[in-house]
Amino acid sequence: NPVAPPDLSKCHIATQGAPSGEDKCCPPYSMAEIIDYDFPRTPLRVRRPAHEVKEDTDYMNKYREAVKKMKELKSDHPWNFYQQALVHCAYCNGAYDQVGYPGVALQVHYSWLFLPWHRYYLHFFERILGKLIDDDTFTLPYWNFDVKEGMTMPEIFTSDENSPLYNKNSRNKDHYHPKLLDYRYGYKAGSGSNASSDDELVQLNMSYMRSTFKNSMQLPELFMGDPLRAGEPDSSGKGSGGLEGIHNGIHQFVGPTTNPHTDMGNFATAARDCMFYSLHANVDRLWHLYRNFRGNRVEFNEPDWLDASFVFYDEHERVVRVKVKDCLTPTKLRYTYEEVPIPWMGSIK
Ligand code: C2O
Repeated sequence: NPVAPPDLSKCHIATQGAPSGEDKCCPPYSMAEIIDYDFPRTPLRVRRPAHEVKEDTDYMNKYREAVKKMKELKSDHPWNFYQQALVHCAYCNGAYDQVGYPGVALQVHYSWLFLPWHRYYLHFFERILGKLIDDDTFTLPYWNFDVKEGMTMPEIFTSDENSPLYNKNSRNKDHYHPKLLDYRYGYKAGSGSNASSDDELVQLNMSYMRSTFKNSMQLPELFMGDPLRAGEPDSSGKGSGGLEGIHNGIHQFVGPTTNPHTDMGNFATAARDCMFYSLHANVDRLWHLYRNFRGNRVEFNEPDWLDASFVFYDEHERVVRVKVKDCLTPTKLRYTYEEVPIPWMGSIK
C-alpha cells in the first residue's frame, strides 16, 4: 500500500536524530479539516539561477521582502518561516507515526518519496512567499550548483548579514564564496574529492553528476531512491538515490563541522536557512532533467508510489492533501525552470 499522510492530531516529539531542544516540530494546525488540493491555474512561474538573480534588483527586493514578511508573522502562524521549517523536521525526524503502524516513523528521506515530497514542500513555500507580497509570478531561485559559476554558496545568502536571506545561526563560513563546492564533501573522515586544483574539482563534480545520471537512466531507484511502502520503516534496508546522496554532501558543506551541525548540516534544522530552498530547487530541477532524458516515462509505474500522499498548508491557509502522481510535471504546479546550459550532460542517453 502507498504511504499515507499522518494523523496530524498525533504528532509527538521527534524521535529520529533531532538534537536536543530541536525535537518539537509539530505544526499548529492539528485539528484542521483536510481537503484535496485544488491545483492552481495561475501564470507559469519561471525559477532562475541564484547566481544570476543577484543582479536583478527588483527581484531581489521582492525576495527579501517576502522572506522578511514570512519571518515576521506570528510565531504560531502556519506560514511563519520557522513553522515552515518545522514541517521539514516533522517529516524528517520522526514526529509522526505512519497511520496504522504505531512506532513506525513517517520518513520522507532515503526512499522514492524524497523527490516528490520536497517538490511539494517547495511548491507551497514558494506560493506562500508570493502571496505575502501579492505576486503570483514569484519564484525561489535555484542554486545552479551543476555549472561552474554556481558551484559556490550563492552570494545572495552570504554577502549581507543583515539581509532577511541571511542565516545567523551557524554555517561553515570557511565555505563561503569563492570556496568551491565538493559533491563528495562530508563530515566523515575520508570524504571529499581530493582535487588538486579548482579546475579539477569542477571536472570531478561534473563527471560525478554525469555518472549519477547515466548509471541510473534505466533504473530509477538508483536515482530517486528505493521503494518505500506503507508500514515499512526507512531503516528496512532501503537506500537513498544518487541525487539525494549528492544533496547530502551539499547540506554538510553548508553546515558547520561541529556536532550537531545545525542548521544546514542537520535535517531537523536545515530548513531554517534560506539556502535550503535553493539547494532543493536545483535538486528538483535535476529530477526534472532526469525525467526529460527518459522521455518523461514514469519512474515507478505502481500505485504504491503514484498514490502515496502528503498534506501541506497551502497559500489559502487550508490543509491540503496531494498525491505523488500529481506532481510529476512541474507545469501542473504552474512552475518551470529557466533553461541554462548543462555542461556535464555529454551523451547521457
Ligand atoms: Cu529534506 Cu535537503 O532534505
